[in-house]
Amino acid sequence: MSGSRERTGIRAMRAVRLHGSGSEALEVESIEMPTLAMGEALVRVLAAGITRDELGWPADRLPATPSYEVSGIVAAVAPDVEEPTVGEPVYGLTPFDCDGAAAEYVAVSARLLAPKPRELSHVESAALPLAGLSAWQGLFDHGALKDGQRVVVTGAAGGVGHLATQLALWRGAYVIAVTSPASAKAASLFGAHEVLVPGNGFGDTLEPADLVFDTVGGDLLRRLPTAVRPGGRLVSVAGEPPPVASGAGIDTRYFVVEPKREQLVELTRLVASGALRPAVDSVFALADAREAFDRSMAAGKRGKVVLLVSDE
Ligand SMILES: NC(=O)c1ccc[n+]([C@@H]2O[C@H](COP(=O)([O-])OP(=O)(O)OC[C@H]3O[C@@H](n4cnc5c(N)ncnc54)[C@H](OP(=O)(O)O)[C@@H]3O)[C@@H](O)[C@H]2O)c1
Repeated sequence: MSGSRERTGIRAMRAVRLHGSGSEALEVESIEMPTLAMGEALVRVLAAGITRDELGWPADRLPATPSYEVSGIVAAVAPDVEEPTVGEPVYGLTPFDCDGAAAEYVAVSARLLAPKPRELSHVESAALPLAGLSAWQGLFDHGALKDGQRVVVTGAAGGVGHLATQLALWRGAYVIAVTSPASAKAASLFGAHEVLVPGNGFGDTLEPADLVFDTVGGDLLRRLPTAVRPGGRLVSVAGEPPPVASGAGIDTRYFVVEPKREQLVELTRLVASGALRPAVDSVFALADAREAFDRSMAAGKRGKVVLLVSDE
């Protein structure tokens, strides 16, 4: 089909491009506008959320545009797309196998985009898709969390963790937030019943939980099976959980978040009801993408790092 350039009249756009590994391999460049395929919408990006560890693209995929979280305005749609419509404010998680949203425009499958929450700015909306869907899927799809259960959320001040804390509270769970020393104060702001900084013996001293939702991985994840009750679950978005003796009766799993429009609609509803609010740690201009990614990997953040691509 004819490309989006005919529809917008724009031929080139600014984009952050990754040419190697790590933030020093990022450049802001002028590249061709994306071409719309059937089923896609072209979004004029106003803000793009970023996540730590997302700059490890395989060499055969480079150069590539990072950021999987977009909030913006629909600029054009393919002929077979009825929703969303041109001019509509939308947000969403873009697929991991395509160029991302750290650019002035991104082409996304229209069925992955949801109406942007009215109560949030574009910067706040861009903080929600990847982290909010990870939290939702970790707690509810993989963790089967129910009203009245005990849940431990690790990394509770981080991008995924602060939203998982709020979603678990909304579900009616008793929430134990586990944080690093640098983030304990920030984590306490999201309403958890307890905030813990793990020390020696962590897990042995904790009353076992129905669900442990891990967003940290590494050494902490290896110590988490002791924090789960028999019959409970250990779910991680940050790494493969350690093997657990089959007699322990603990279900362990790692998952990769999936773009799901219907869950974004739920998140939008929770924002409107006041049950959910994404925290923005910091905002950077597109030209400062290297600094933004360095910040995403720093300690002591409160919520998400977001690129402000355009003010209007
Ligand atoms: N599989 C998937 O689909 C998927 C989806 C989303 C995210 N992820 C991954 O999940 C992880 C979390 O993502 P995110 O965006 O939430 O990252 P983030 O914003 O950096 O949050 C991580 C949190 O973990 C805390 N932390 C680090 N070490 C800790 C420790 N030893 N004990 C307690 N807390 C500790 C950090 O605190 P400090 O800042 O104080 O160190 C930070 O608050 C990342 O590795 C990301 O790549 C995977």
